Parts: sequence; structure tokens; C-alpha cells
Amino acid sequence: MVDIELPFKTIELRGDHLVLLDQRQLPEKVEYVQIEKYKVVIEAIRNMTVRGAPAIGVVAGFAMFLASVEYSNLPEDGYFRLMSKAADELSLARPTAANLRWAVQRIRKIIEGNHGISIAKTHQMVKQEAEAIEAEDKELCRSIGEHGAALINDGDGILTHCNAGALATAGIGTALGVIYTAAFSGKKIRIYSGETRPVDQGRRLTSWELAASGLDVTILCDNMIGSIISSGKIDKVIVGADRIAMNGDTANKIGTLNMALIADHFQVPFYVAAPYSTFDPEAQSGADIPIEFRPKDEVASAENYVDIHGKIDIYNPAFDVTPVNLITAYITDRGILTSSELGAVLMRKAKNLNQVH
Ligand code: MRU
Repeated sequence: MVDIELPFKTIELRGDHLVLLDQRQLPEKVEYVQIEKYKVVIEAIRNMTVRGAPAIGVVAGFAMFLASVEYSNLPEDGYFRLMSKAADELSLARPTAANLRWAVQRIRKIIEGNHGISIAKTHQMVKQEAEAIEAEDKELCRSIGEHGAALINDGDGILTHCNAGALATAGIGTALGVIYTAAFSGKKIRIYSGETRPVDQGRRLTSWELAASGLDVTILCDNMIGSIISSGKIDKVIVGADRIAMNGDTANKIGTLNMALIADHFQVPFYVAAPYSTFDPEAQSGADIPIEFRPKDEVASAENYVDIHGKIDIYNPAFDVTPVNLITAYITDRGILTSSELGAVLMRKAKNLNQVH
């Protein structure tokens, strides 16, 4: 097992407040924001101070704890009513990542199960569950990294997209977790990342965290993906996921589908790395996954977008869905799974869902 310590922290609960590395400022500035109210966490998720499916889940768990701090002096009725309202509001912060609702649901179960039990006890349990979600995410990343690294050969060129790293999780990341584990266990790999317009998570975040951790990376514009894959420099594509449906269709950052189609054409293996918290047993296929549309000024900022003729519109979906037939395998905390194996694991998860979380 490789022990990996990265030189920055993305999310930290310090006493009764949450500290987040402000990802809007990277790579120019490394700044942290301190948050005391759950409503400010909702805003931080929406404006992408924190982003990446597992990180959003972890932060949502902590936001429920902040709500509990805020409401714990209320009479019992008020406490339970407002905690339930906070859970509803948090669930809506961003629509696509499965981990957000999964984490909120875990805390909601505790609140609902504790009606009639003391608020002090419930408060303590909410904190413990939020901390457990964080600890579990670290472990899931470690496990994905170990399983995935076994697929990587010395000398491989690996292409990734967006940021599925330590900035997107509480641990070493999913797709980047595989890359860190392979690299720190001594494999010589070449790492490539798509820029990921319009928010530039690849150019701004993936390059920053890999470089800060001592790894070299080559960034390319999204319209260069066909060029690099066709050049033979890429041996494997590994991306993260925001939500995986029962049949294996996978929602991830916009542009993932293009990468998968090109990889398929040139017969380059295409892997999705994700923890079980990203699988949605209620989504039968990609058609059931809601896709977030982001503000138009992400594509054209106010300074360079002047629609003087009133004729220009902007299309800005944040995610696309890659169909299962383009995915070679899923690198999960439970091992490398093909789409048919995935079905069985997801079924088990769906059955356990009501009992466990
Ligand atoms: O819009 P973002 O930056 O939250 O999108 C992030 C991604 O698409 C990641 O690939 C995904 O959440 C997996 S992160 C381990």
C-alpha cells in the first residue's frame, strides 16, 4: 500500500466552522474561506468555491452539522423542522452529482430516527455521521487508487478530464487517485489533462494539484483531444463521474463524451473511476440523470460578450452522459468492474439502501 500525503487540504471542519480551499481563485491564489452557516455552504457549492461530486457530498454533510449548531438551542419542534428544511435546500444546491443527495440522505435518516430523543444527542450524532462521510471518502479514494494503479503500466500516457483529484474529494481523488498511486509507487507515467472549458478545472485545478504534489502534467485545449489520442501518445483515458446509472451510463464533466467517442474510435481503453456513493440505484439509465445548465457568462464573460444585435445565445451544460458501451470498465472502491458486474453490485446497493443509509 502506498502512503500518500498531499501538500494541501481541500475541506476541513475546525470546531464549529468549515474551512474550504477557494477553488475559484486557483491557481493564482491559494485562499481559504471560513463558513459558519449552512446557507453559505449552499452558495459555496453553487458558485463552485468547492466542487467535484465526492467533495460536494462531504461538504453537504458538514453543512448539516452547521445547521445543527445554528438550531440546537431551539425547542424540539423547531429544531427538527428546520433541520429537515436545511436538508431539502442542500439537496437542491447542484442537481447532477449523486453524492450530494446521498450524503444529505445519510444525515436526514439520523434526524428522522431521532425524533423524541434529545437534541444534544441528535446534534452529536449528526456531527459523527458528517465526520464518518469524510473519513469514508478518504478511504474510498485510497481503495480506488490501489485498484486502478494495478491497471497502469510503466511508461503509460494517461489522459484525464476536468478535476477528479484531491480538490474534488476528501482524499487523493478518484481518477487522480489512480494516477497518484501509480506515480508514487514508482511507475513512470505521462499525465495529460484536457483544459475543460468553460470553468477550466483541468487547466486551473488538475494542473495545480498535480504540480503542487510534484508530478509533471501536460495541459491541452479540449479541441486537441482527437489530435493527442490519434497520435498514439495516450494508452488509457481515466475520468471521474458525477452520477452513474444502473445500466452504467455515466454523467461527468462536459466533454467527457467527446473523449470517450474518440478513445473508442482509436481503441484506447476508457475508464471511469468512482466510489459507490456516485452510483444512483434510482437512475435506470443516463436519461434519468438531471443535467445542470450553468450561467451563460461562464462561457462568455461580461467583458468579452456584447450581443449588440440580440442574436447570440449560449449553450452551457455542465455535464454530459457517456453511454455504457463506450466505457471499458469502472474503477471502484470494490475493484475493477465491467458494466455487467456493475449491475449486480448496484442491485445489492439498491437493496441495502433503505437499511444502511
Ligand atoms: O462542475 P464540477 O467541477 O463539480 O464537475 C466535476 C466533475 O465533473 C468531476 O469529474 C466529478 O465530479 C468527479 S470528481 C472525483
